[in-house]
Amino acid sequence: MKIHILGSAAGGGFPQWNCNCSNCKAYRNGSQRVRARTQSSITVSADQHNWVLFNASPDILQQIRSFPALQPARTLRDTAIRAVFLMDAQIDHTTGLYMLREHRQPLPLWCHPLVREDLMKGNPIFSVLAHYCGVDWHEVTLDAQGFVMADLPGLHFKAVPLTSNAPPYSPHRDKPQPGDNLGVRITDTTSGKSIFYAPGLGQMEPHVWQAMQSADCVLVDGTLWTDEEMIVLGASPKTARAMGHLPQTGPGGMLEWLEKLPASTRKVLIHINNTNPILDEDSPERQELARRQIEVAYDGMGIDL
Ligand code: MLT
Ligand code: MN
Ligand code: ZN
Repeated sequence: MKIHILGSAAGGGFPQWNCNCSNCKAYRNGSQRVRARTQSSITVSADQHNWVLFNASPDILQQIRSFPALQPARTLRDTAIRAVFLMDAQIDHTTGLYMLREHRQPLPLWCHPLVREDLMKGNPIFSVLAHYCGVDWHEVTLDAQGFVMADLPGLHFKAVPLTSNAPPYSPHRDKPQPGDNLGVRITDTTSGKSIFYAPGLGQMEPHVWQAMQSADCVLVDGTLWTDEEMIVLGASPKTARAMGHLPQTGPGGMLEWLEKLPASTRKVLIHINNTNPILDEDSPERQELARRQIEVAYDGMGIDL
């Protein structure tokens, strides 16, 4: 199974267009080792012909251009993206659906019914797309046995409900419901290897921890270094946890959890916010991750399992 990181930043990307935090400034003036990152998306394939796209980022056209495997050019209009899987209904994970409107058939789209509802009412992307390619919706269920997709041979999927936060336009904002945010365990059915992917993980619940322990690689929420990061900077009145993101540090933070995983588990942070000091490759925070053998996802990174 190949996992390709299309976009490794949180909503806003890095640098963020209107941000002058020390990271964004450093990128613009070249004063520190920081790489630009597009917004949150990965793509996965077992056979390297058929790819499933996880989330449709606002940066999707740039991301597709940067990964030629997604354009096999067999016919005049073509794509290797056989399905789109949405983890939630957030702007940074769904806006790119508009950019796929030229699809020749209804877009094969997998998401939970709560996400579908938000994309029909709060932010009616599905209704707008009905005027273009339309949407061929498949329900993502939370069934323990998981599911397969006919067009994605060799892959098995199991959705894991996460307590995070629905987008501001959702009736479930600040009232988390099972299904409005998902993690997913993707297994290569030939090798048996699996990855647990969760770009928006707000609480380490027992079933989530179990999914992480059973994976060969965890690709998880790396949004913010501290819970108060956005408040201290004056960027937002919300803590990381209130936004639905477990901070890396502090009691019960992501680093404590990752420490408890076996040394053989590959540990990668993704969905990095532009304010996070780990973006500076020479920062003490980044050194701390290196010491713990935790990697930071970057655009173009590949993971082979
Ligand atoms: C989030 O995950 O909280 C988002 O990145 C927010 C956004 O896209 O604005
Ligand atoms: Mn996000
Ligand atoms: Zn910034």
